[in-house]
Amino acid sequence: MELSWNDRRTRQFLTNVGLITTDGRCGPSVMAAEWTHHVSYSPSLIAINVRGDDATAENINQSKEFGVNLAAEDQNILCSLGGRYTGKELDKISLFKELGIIFYKAKSIKTLMIRGAAMNAECKLVKQEGLGDHIMFVGEVTEISSDENIKPLVYHNGRYWRLDDNNKIPRPSQELLDKVEEIAKKYVKV
Ligand SMILES: Cc1cc2nc3c(=O)[nH]c(=O)nc-3n(C[C@H](O)[C@H](O)[C@H](O)COP(=O)(O)O)c2cc1C
Repeated sequence: MELSWNDRRTRQFLTNVGLITTDGRCGPSVMAAEWTHHVSYSPSLIAINVRGDDATAENINQSKEFGVNLAAEDQNILCSLGGRYTGKELDKISLFKELGIIFYKAKSIKTLMIRGAAMNAECKLVKQEGLGDHIMFVGEVTEISSDENIKPLVYHNGRYWRLDDNNKIPRPSQELLDKVEEIAKKYVKV
C-alpha cells in the first residue's frame, strides 16, 4: 500500500529531527531529516533516509560522508528552513549563518557541523540502499559529542514538541515488576 507523508496514521510516529550537513557537488548544505536513527552500537551506525534527488543525497553520493546534528528544542526554525529549501537552489548554510547560527568544522569529515545541537555525530558512509522512494544512507560514527544540558526537539504529528521533565512517565514499580515476574514463570518456554 501507499501512505502519503501526511497520513494521519503515520503521524503517530515520534522522532528527532536530524539536521544533516553535507558537502559535495551541490556545495556545503543542510537538510532536515526526521528519519534519522541510531541503528547499531558496535560499530556505531546512524541511518538516514533521504530522497534520491535531494541535494543531500547527491552530496553524500559524491563525498561518502555526512554530519548528523540532532536539532535542539530552540532549533525548530532550522528544521523548517532546512526542509523548505533545497541546496540545489539555495545556499542554506549562508542563510543560516546570517540568522546567527554558528557552524564549526568537523574533525573527521569535511562537512560543517552545527553549534548548539543536542548531539553532533560525524559519519562515514558504509552502506546505501534504495528503499521505496528514499535512499537509506548508513554511516559509521567517527566522532560524536553532546551537551546534556541541551534537550533534543521532538517531532510528532507534523509539529515540534518540547521534552518536559515534569511530564516524565514513572517507571513501573518494583512491586509490579516482581508480581509480573511471578506470573511470567507460568509462561517460560521449555
Ligand atoms: C521536520 C522535517 C523533517 C523532514 N524529514 C525528512 C526525511 O527524513 N527525509 C527526507 O528525504 N526529507 C525530509 N524532509 C524534507 C527535506 O528536508 C526537504 O526535501 C529538503 O528540501 C531537502 O533538502 P536538500 O535538497 O537540500 O537535500 C523533512 C522536512 C522537515 C521540515
